[in-house]
Amino acid sequence: MTTPNPPALDSLRELETDALAQLTAAADEAGVEEWRVSFLGRKGRLTGVLRSLKDLEDADRRTVGAAANQTKLRLEEALEAREGSMRAAQAAERAGSRIDVTLPARPLQAGSLHPVTIARRRAERAFRDMGFDVVEGPEVEWDHYNFDRLRIPKDHPARDMWDTIWVDADDAERDRRMLLRTHTSPMQIRYMETHEPPIRVVVPGTCYRYEAVDATHEWMMTQIEGLVIDEGISFAHLKGTLESFVRRFFGQELETRFRCDYFPFVEPGAELAVRWQGRWLELLGCGMVHPEIIEAAGWDPDRYTGFAFGMGVERFAMSLWGIDDIRHFYQNDLRFLSQFRGAQGAR
Ligand code: DAH
Repeated sequence: MTTPNPPALDSLRELETDALAQLTAAADEAGVEEWRVSFLGRKGRLTGVLRSLKDLEDADRRTVGAAANQTKLRLEEALEAREGSMRAAQAAERAGSRIDVTLPARPLQAGSLHPVTIARRRAERAFRDMGFDVVEGPEVEWDHYNFDRLRIPKDHPARDMWDTIWVDADDAERDRRMLLRTHTSPMQIRYMETHEPPIRVVVPGTCYRYEAVDATHEWMMTQIEGLVIDEGISFAHLKGTLESFVRRFFGQELETRFRCDYFPFVEPGAELAVRWQGRWLELLGCGMVHPEIIEAAGWDPDRYTGFAFGMGVERFAMSLWGIDDIRHFYQNDLRFLSQFRGAQGAR
């Protein structure tokens, strides 16, 4: 009977100890793979032992062979355990339970202002520079302010000019109904209730219409209302103010055109268009504040006169930046919105 080959068994034990120590020391996935190749791979150390079995005597081959297979199993088990714990650590890291503060910083992509905000601020800046105050009013409004007090009585066909989103909150006692304001004009009345002439104010804000959406109509939009009341205000002041605004907003002298238009709260009423890139662009409605509105505010219409105007900010933004469809503004598509990074709002 042949004795087992002690040198072969010794070197197997040594190999196993060595292998387990190196596996523990492997720093990362790549290190563990390197370890697998160098011990268990086709040309690895353990595979080498198994291959050399054929050179041993029969009895030795059996003993050493069995021991070598045991070693192989233990190394494979150790490898599996190590890979499992590495996967768990990675998952924990992904879940944020560990933050490696030594990693290099990645710059965050900063947000930017919405194009309508940029255009709105640019318009506000222009009016502030001309001495206007900027105030805001409620978006949920009574029909009393949105219509009646602006000379648009109930059942009057002029109400059809503004398709209305009504809010289910009637005040039967005072015969008024709630709505989402269809324009910023109701703030004219609210402002007159709490201020005395001279008045020089603009009111930016969101308005809502019960309207089919297409390339030039949105059910939600932004307006800027203007109101000036003082002694001796004439249509010439209206023209001069709006022409100055157009120059400031577009940053250049533009040809302007005033045409007659009808709005129940002004007399006469007009529409202002500017010549922009070869076409007439209708920008806003305006007119002299109706004497009945001045009188209703408690002032003598023979002494106090004024003008008012209302413009759509989206329209200004569209002409300023050549945007062809109003629906782009509120679809929250970052490919559209991020194009305005760095665009000039207030000068
Ligand atoms: N509120 C009007 C609208 O939304 C616009 C408007 C026209 C406002 C004439 C005014 C004005 O102040 O004088 O269609």
